Amino acid sequence: MTGNSDRSDAGSSARNLVVTPAAGYFGAHVSGVRLGSPLAPTTLDALRTALDQHRVLFFRRQFLSHTEQTAFAGQLGPLAPAHPWQEPVAQHPFVHRLVTGRQQSVSGEEEHRARWRSPDYLSGWHADITAAVDPPSYGILRAEKVPSRGGDTTWADTVTAYEQLSEPLRRFLDGLTAEHRYLVGYVPFGVTDHALRTATAAGLVTHHPVVRVLPGEERRALFVNPAFTSHINELSPPESRRILDLVFTHMTRPEFTVRHRWEAGDVAVWDNRATVHIAPEDHEHLGEVRAMYRVFVAGSPATGPGGRTSTAVCGARYQVVPQAAS
Ligand SMILES: [Fe+2]
Repeated sequence: MTGNSDRSDAGSSARNLVVTPAAGYFGAHVSGVRLGSPLAPTTLDALRTALDQHRVLFFRRQFLSHTEQTAFAGQLGPLAPAHPWQEPVAQHPFVHRLVTGRQQSVSGEEEHRARWRSPDYLSGWHADITAAVDPPSYGILRAEKVPSRGGDTTWADTVTAYEQLSEPLRRFLDGLTAEHRYLVGYVPFGVTDHALRTATAAGLVTHHPVVRVLPGEERRALFVNPAFTSHINELSPPESRRILDLVFTHMTRPEFTVRHRWEAGDVAVWDNRATVHIAPEDHEHLGEVRAMYRVFVAGSPATGPGGRTSTAVCGARYQVVPQAAS
């Protein structure tokens, strides 16, 4: 938090904040705040409380610049690099550009292969950068250009999913760890062979607890995802495959999800420790560009119920850039 209340946006006091649940278990729309201005301490506290409670927050019509998005994220905590190996937006080292649609130059053959690499609906669900020992704690995504239809993002609530497993299964999962690496279950549409080689060369591999204890509270979240989790370390390969399939199918059940229909200017903030998300590839055929920008708040290694923490098998910590929010 920048902390200087006389620079805060007077129109964004905590009293004006309206938080409206967006789905049955989690996710909320927030109005009455302008994220592009420094937030008063009480407003920031209210947003943190809402984020803890709802795990994903949606803000309409914010129209942030790169600088404003970075400054807002910096009020939630120190920032993480924009991406482990991809270049950030020029002059904005914490902003990652995500553009899909026909402006990419992907050959027909690559497009065909990319589709084959994404063989099912489950494979695209992920939390961000869990191949790293210290994945981001929060993601902040803003929509600049959206297709006329399609391109929604869906999040799933891995806290509720954990809590709705049977008690014996929860206890079983509590004691396990799993390996996370790039390119296990999913390669986004349009990713080229060169990008695949780069991702593999980045060599981030981590063992995380399968169940993560969330900081500051008793609640626990499933901390595996189809895109990054290759196997459970303590099980045989066929046991691991079946248990992971069971967990993935369970945690992405429709009742544990919230779906956001993007409009230009929207901002979404999610807890990357307590949710997974997916962007359906349903707009590529429209010939319309979807341009999004993401900033990460730095995270830390996960802690499991028995106190076991994430360990890096290969690669350095992700949040390698010590910095203050700009
Ligand atoms: Fe993501």
